[in-house]
Amino acid sequence: MIYPIVAYGDPVLRKMARPVEKGTDLTELVANMLETMHNADGVGLAAPQIGLDLRLFVVDGSGTEDEVLKPFKQVFVNPQILDQAGDPWGYEEGCLSLPGIREEVKRQAKLRIRFFDEHWQEYEAEFDGLRARVIQHEYDHIEGKLFIDHLSPLRRRLLNGKLNDILKGKAKADYRLRYSSAKR
Ligand code: NI
Repeated sequence: MIYPIVAYGDPVLRKMARPVEKGTDLTELVANMLETMHNADGVGLAAPQIGLDLRLFVVDGSGTEDEVLKPFKQVFVNPQILDQAGDPWGYEEGCLSLPGIREEVKRQAKLRIRFFDEHWQEYEAEFDGLRARVIQHEYDHIEGKLFIDHLSPLRRRLLNGKLNDILKGKAKADYRLRYSSAKR
């Protein structure tokens, strides 16, 4: 099932997400999230982006041409970033909840993370480069953060027009968006 993707402006994107109750059957939710993400040509999708304030995100780079991301497919449940290291480096990011916006974001080069997969198997692993970046971007989502929060005040201000278009429901995307329920 393909969910509409929650657009910028919905309070669920700004909430600290709750841990998933251990042992919950995630088979259907994860399958639907992957289907939703593939339909929108995304590389990552976090539960708040489908309106669920849960600490869960999926990553699948198989649709990209990038040799580092291509084989990277993983479900992260109740993840915990234990450590981040390395010089911050810049890369242009986008987000399915912020259609039409792409900006360079600086993030640390590597991280160590503990997480469960959708079968509640626990892992601790290290990631670097683009894989670390995708994880950092999705992890931000479950902390109520968006990639535009990392921009300088000036660059953020330059985006006001585009952000307002999204708030007004005027943004264009090749997938279905769900606009803020707070808006009347
Ligand atoms: Ni995103």
